[in-house]
Amino acid sequence: MTSSHKIGCIVLAAGQSKRLKSKVAKIFHDLAGRSVLGHVLHTLNQLPLNQVVIVASPITPMHPDYLNHTVIVQDRQLGTGHAASMGVTGFGADDIEEVIIVCGDTPLLLPETLMQLIKSTADLTLLVASLPDHLLDATYGRVMFEHDKPIRIVEYKDADDSVRASPLINAGVYKIKVDLLKKLLPQLSNENAGNEYYLTDLVHLAVECGAEIQAILVDFEEVLGINTRIELEKVDAIIQSRLVSALMANGVTFQQPQTTRLSVDTVIGQDTVIEPCVIFKKGVTINTNVRIKSFSYLENCHLKDGVSVGPHAHIRGGCVLDEDSEVGNFVELKATHLGKKAKAKHLTYLGDATVGNFANIGAGTITANYDGFFKHKTIIDESVHLGANTVLVAPLTVGAEAMTAAGAVITENVPPGALAISRTPQKNKENWACLYKEKMRNKKKIN
Ligand code: UD1
Ligand code: CA
Repeated sequence: MTSSHKIGCIVLAAGQSKRLKSKVAKIFHDLAGRSVLGHVLHTLNQLPLNQVVIVASPITPMHPDYLNHTVIVQDRQLGTGHAASMGVTGFGADDIEEVIIVCGDTPLLLPETLMQLIKSTADLTLLVASLPDHLLDATYGRVMFEHDKPIRIVEYKDADDSVRASPLINAGVYKIKVDLLKKLLPQLSNENAGNEYYLTDLVHLAVECGAEIQAILVDFEEVLGINTRIELEKVDAIIQSRLVSALMANGVTFQQPQTTRLSVDTVIGQDTVIEPCVIFKKGVTINTNVRIKSFSYLENCHLKDGVSVGPHAHIRGGCVLDEDSEVGNFVELKATHLGKKAKAKHLTYLGDATVGNFANIGAGTITANYDGFFKHKTIIDESVHLGANTVLVAPLTVGAEAMTAAGAVITENVPPGALAISRTPQKNKENWACLYKEKMRNKKKIN
């Protein structure tokens, strides 16, 4: 392989996803904030490929995931062999010498494994895996060997019991010289149990014309394909455990990591502790020494050093929590900036708000930020102390050091240093309760 050697890639992604039983094609199902196909393309982007051609379904001829790649629509799903022959037409220049073919439904492949494939010098190279004992009846194609060389792939549907008993399966990932591919594709037929043009027939056709064929044995887990919901869940669990392991290696503590859900872009700093049952949606960055307590749900937010959140906190899009701020149970924040050492510890909603350093938000505080048409901002300046159950009807500003009395409904700005009270004055009716109770007890006795 020389540096001018050009490699193209075809991603087979037009399948009908029948076994998933979904209105959404399997390649667009979500795995940790990235689609199944997105994972495959993310891996391919790390390889020295000159062009990537996606064979797409006519139902989704355009999709943001396809950006920067060539798309060829396969109008009718006549099989993987037919899809590959459509894909080859996508290579613009004639200078592509070798083609890697991968399936869009196999998202766990690692770039280093595909680099091994790229480095192979055979005319046709395929990735092969060995089924673990408990999955010996899985419906992957079986790779037949003679003298350690692959000679044929038999699809599960077409295989008899003796072939099905073989644990060596076809991963659906190949590298082939483009001239050989163009020669063999027209020779594929659909006379088989699936009535499809099988790409897998390339192997025995290549044998027949004397080509050199090589198999590379890879870990089964890496080539798991997604055809059913059960496989989707298995792959998802592996992606989650890969993400957790990478963060642990960087010094993050997870208590019961199998109950955590991460996104591919979750960033977490050293000595941060994640308690059980925490969900990280996309766009979350957490600095060091943070504690996320159980049952918290975070999306698109930035938590700086020393922050504490939860249990049962909901940190929504656009929030920034400065150093050592604290958010407690049943607190929801949306597009809110919490200053250093600010606290909102109980039963609160802060939306479109800016909270200054050292401010204390009383239990039950609510920003009324939405009038049914527009969202409005609330500014709570430094060292403000809001009494329990304060309602802040935005837009408004509570000046630095100001206080609100418990139960206040604040509709106007509060000047710095002031106390805002807004409630009906209290009246105490002496002895009223005793008289009332006595009257009611007597009534009950008579009846
Ligand atoms: C395929 C292989 C099987 C292998 C397995 C590995 C064939 C015939 N079989 O089986 O040997 O063990 O992958 O995961 O190749 N697709 C199209 N157009 C089509 C049909 C399929 O683009 O007309 C795409 C699908 O979207 C999918 C990929 O090709 O991403 C593989 O197709 P799928 O139907 O999932 O093949 P398997 O039955 O899994
Ligand atoms: Ca498949």
